[in-house]
Amino acid sequence: MSQELQDFQTNSSQNTGESVPPFQRSVYISTYGCQMNENDTERMYALMEMAGYAAVASPEQADVIIINSCSVREKPVHKVFSEVGTYRRLKERRPHLKIGVGGCVASLEKERLIEANSLIDFVFGTDQIDLVPSLVDRAFAKKGIVEARFHHREPYQIETLIRNPKVTAFVNITKGCDNFCTFCVVPYTRGREKSRLLREVVEDIQKLVNRGVREVTLLGQNVNSYRSPCGADFADLLQALAEQTDLVRIRYTTSHPKDFNEKLMQIMERYQQKICEYIHLPVQSGSDRILERMNRGYSRKDYIAKIKKIKEYLPQVVLSTDIIVGFPGEDESDFWQTVDLVLEVGFETIFAFKYSPRPFTKAARFDQQIPETIKDERLQRLFQEWEKWAFPFVKQRYQGQYVEVLVEEFDQKRGQWHGRSRQNKNVYFQADKTLTGQLVHVLVEEAFPSVLRGRWMERESKQHGVG
Ligand code: SAH
Ligand code: SF4
Ligand code: F3S
Repeated sequence: MSQELQDFQTNSSQNTGESVPPFQRSVYISTYGCQMNENDTERMYALMEMAGYAAVASPEQADVIIINSCSVREKPVHKVFSEVGTYRRLKERRPHLKIGVGGCVASLEKERLIEANSLIDFVFGTDQIDLVPSLVDRAFAKKGIVEARFHHREPYQIETLIRNPKVTAFVNITKGCDNFCTFCVVPYTRGREKSRLLREVVEDIQKLVNRGVREVTLLGQNVNSYRSPCGADFADLLQALAEQTDLVRIRYTTSHPKDFNEKLMQIMERYQQKICEYIHLPVQSGSDRILERMNRGYSRKDYIAKIKKIKEYLPQVVLSTDIIVGFPGEDESDFWQTVDLVLEVGFETIFAFKYSPRPFTKAARFDQQIPETIKDERLQRLFQEWEKWAFPFVKQRYQGQYVEVLVEEFDQKRGQWHGRSRQNKNVYFQADKTLTGQLVHVLVEEAFPSVLRGRWMERESKQHGVG
């Protein structure tokens, strides 16, 4: 790591911009989309602070506003333009204000954004995050800067930049995606898949641990296809992290059912003290006909068999999934097969979306597109059927049980401590002392699919050697 970066990481003072000195320029970033965009935003703030900017908490105070956009579902360009529109007044009052658009919409639309909206000064793609300070400099000198090409360099090199690491951190291990599911725009917004070197990931994470991080979530569009240029696969990476770092907990997302293999299950079982038994495994549909049209590379039977095997290795596992309803050609019987699969597997959390046609994707050109009203209605029915099962199930599973919680912070709004259980439930409880970063035991009094409320059992935490 460069000295500059090291000094920055030890000295950075999360400036929320309440009192920015008059000579210092400031930056505000609004973020849409997935955890990768969240990570990119934190990286941009860190780089901009290194370049002398102050991070501010509202656009009114900013000299530079960046919109980090997402284009995975409905009307993404419209969302960007409507946010840019809200800054018109600000720009009239402060003509030096620069507005930039980055992220996945920018990767797709490039100069079209500036052509369509004169308030936008610069546009940059998902591979230009590290260039942002210099792009901003250029934008102060000249309008119409556009940089949105993909870098095809291998390995993918990136050192995690976080201004003030908390108990948990997100670390990219791959970028891009080569799967080309027929509904998905991500391969066009993030480019081809590239992996980081195993050694670099391990060192990066140990440095975060040295700065107080206790849990990491490894990030990639399909972490299971991670392959370090040295030959190691994803299971090898998990093993290396479990053995060679002082992490307390390891998580990862997102998995792909076609690449989730038995070696990974074995490693999760062997290092279950550290690797959390929570798996997000997007199924998308329960119908073979639709899975085929989606180009997912597995059948309903394959998926269910894999889940069965996972449960054999990890009996306490909690599963969540993503589902798309109203994919072109989906009929009532396909839809019911999805509902049926959701109930058969027993997902404690589901993320379900209405199919939305995306530019460049094959499915956008498929016939038999489904009317919005039917998509709405199917989405509602899916949630209703799932809720009927999930609410009583989690009550029965968790109420009266102890869960191990890694405490993240005191939630001011709720007036309670907050952390997550190993199985990724948000847990809230009272305590009369500071517990940030500690592993504690909580006795669950009330359970919902993604939230548990309970009582901190100090004695039990000590007895079990946690906290
Ligand atoms: N790489 C991850 C996540 C991709 S995007 C994966 O493979 O699962 C997150 C979720 O958005 C997807 O799992 C899918 O359920 C949903 N999604 C993606 N494209 C969509 C589209 N065109 N319409 C509706 N939902 C979509
Ligand atoms: Fe999109 Fe499929 Fe890649 Fe996930 S695996 S990012 S859904 S193309
Ligand atoms: Fe959205 Fe891009 Fe993430 S399209 S979901 S921000 S990869």
